[in-house]
Amino acid sequence: MSETNTRMAPIVVDHPLVQHKLTRLRQASTSTAGFRRLTRELSLLLCYEATRDLPTEAVEIETPVESTTGRTLSGKKLCFISILRAGNGILDGMLDLVPAARVGHIGLYRDHDTLEAIEYYMKLPDDVAERDCIVVDPMLATGHSAAAAIDRVKAAGVTNIIFVCLLGAPEGMDYMAARHPDVKIVTCSIDRGLNEKGYIVPGLGDAGDRLFGTR
Ligand code: URA
Repeated sequence: MSETNTRMAPIVVDHPLVQHKLTRLRQASTSTAGFRRLTRELSLLLCYEATRDLPTEAVEIETPVESTTGRTLSGKKLCFISILRAGNGILDGMLDLVPAARVGHIGLYRDHDTLEAIEYYMKLPDDVAERDCIVVDPMLATGHSAAAAIDRVKAAGVTNIIFVCLLGAPEGMDYMAARHPDVKIVTCSIDRGLNEKGYIVPGLGDAGDRLFGTR
């Protein structure tokens, strides 16, 4: 996860299980409980891919049978940062995989007149600058919220950031590449685009509403 000026190609996880679960997730007939369960499972699998390049070091251990050399994580500790509110749906699966990770939250809304992202909530761990961060939001639509959240994470001193989403639109991918070319994006799919209401198509609808049963 190094700082560079060239665009980092997004990682689309095309594993058959991921694509199967994503298809179930997209279906309008999937219940709230099913949507939550699938989001949790997909988030764990996306986190697995997002953490693929974490550094490890050799350690000598004793198994019940003999001494051996194993490998354990050796780099910075992790922090997951959820973009409210739908990002919270991604946290459970990621914490299943990395239970010791710290968690931050960023809440943003769009000013109708200026179209600027206004922060209404931000709480990051005190030591966030010493951690590698994975910023999460299920949907990368225009990319404006993700880029604004990442602005704030960088302003807090974080240098290594990965962005994880369930789905992205090409518009969001391009915007992120322009604003944060050093940030790797890990997703299950890059969909066709955005419709006139700003929804990703074919997409899965409003991820927050489907996660929390608010519609
Ligand atoms: N946010 C969502 O929840 N869904 C979309 O399709 C786009 C943004």
